[in-house]
Amino acid sequence: MAKKLITVIGATGAQGGGLSKAILADQSGEFALRAVTRKPDGDAARALARAGAEVVSADLDDVASLQRAFDGAHGAFCVTNFWEHMSPEKERTQARNLAEASKASRVEHVIWSTLEDSRERVPLTDQRMPTLLEHYKVPHFDVKGEADAFFDRAHTTFLRTSFYWDNLIYFGMGPKPDEKGQLGFVLPMGDKKLPGIAAEDIGKCAFGIFKRGAAALGKYFAIAGEHLTGAQMAQALSRALERSVAHVDVPPAVYRTFGFPGADDLGNMFQYKAEFEAEFCGARDLAVSRSLNPQLQTFAQWLAANAARIPLS
Ligand SMILES: NC(=O)c1ccc[n+]([C@@H]2O[C@H](COP(=O)([O-])OP(=O)(O)OC[C@H]3O[C@@H](n4cnc5c(N)ncnc54)[C@H](OP(=O)(O)O)[C@@H]3O)[C@@H](O)[C@H]2O)c1
Repeated sequence: MAKKLITVIGATGAQGGGLSKAILADQSGEFALRAVTRKPDGDAARALARAGAEVVSADLDDVASLQRAFDGAHGAFCVTNFWEHMSPEKERTQARNLAEASKASRVEHVIWSTLEDSRERVPLTDQRMPTLLEHYKVPHFDVKGEADAFFDRAHTTFLRTSFYWDNLIYFGMGPKPDEKGQLGFVLPMGDKKLPGIAAEDIGKCAFGIFKRGAAALGKYFAIAGEHLTGAQMAQALSRALERSVAHVDVPPAVYRTFGFPGADDLGNMFQYKAEFEAEFCGARDLAVSRSLNPQLQTFAQWLAANAARIPLS
């Protein structure tokens, strides 16, 4: 039987990279990988090719290139990278390009990596948090949620992801020392729980969705590895680092003023997750996530493998 070809957007990145590894590691022989990148000669792309992937060049800004990447594929994993440009308009166009190209190529099973549109619960008129860029409350969430409508439900599974614990390594969100050397982990969510996940587990869950096949079409899956408060995360960090880490709680309004690019977007995001904890955590069922990916990691398991990589200064 011919293998089912899966085209993976973002194959050199966190989400698509996890899916690519899962496809390449699968022993069933049911699937083959076409990895998409703008840099086929880059180290990550070469490593994928060596591991058995077909590597193709395409750009989210170029529908024709996406259509070539999708032609002949059974499945497509679609993800956009807001943080590369921080433009909701650009992210909207890229999502539309993905939807149009996958339709034109008649891909049977698309997974769209999405998030909630926060404006459904916090309309722009709601003053609890500032409106950003005129049209958004949490720009990197809102446009992804809005873009759900571009995708044809009959051929799409909508995958709502969670905060990557890897942000502690790559996004400057790890514990930092105060002037006395005491490590503090900043999470502006009071005693509310943050659903988190090992980034590579997102791709593994996506692979579980492709394996489910037609039964997953038209459905939403929201995934997480664990729901933890800032205090619980600090405790787990203390154990893994063998150094005391305190949870530093600040109001979202203070977090928004931290001054790094995207601080206002993330301040609104944490406020949204805290104020709608029941809905946001409730949607991210751990048992469902584990049923898609039996290797789903807890925070402690992720820390056991990764704590040494978290920069502490
Ligand atoms: N950090 C979090 O906690 C978190 C949680 C949930 C959702 N997210 C969302 O995750 C998304 C990013 O995904 P990620 O973390 O997997 O990305 P990543 O690790 O930063 O890598 C970005 C990937 O996207 C590809 N890419 C970017 N622009 C492209 C373009 N114009 N054409 C073709 N490929 C392009 C890159 O490919 P090449 O460079 O090889 O071309 C690369 O593979 C963001 O939109 C973010 O909002 C993040």
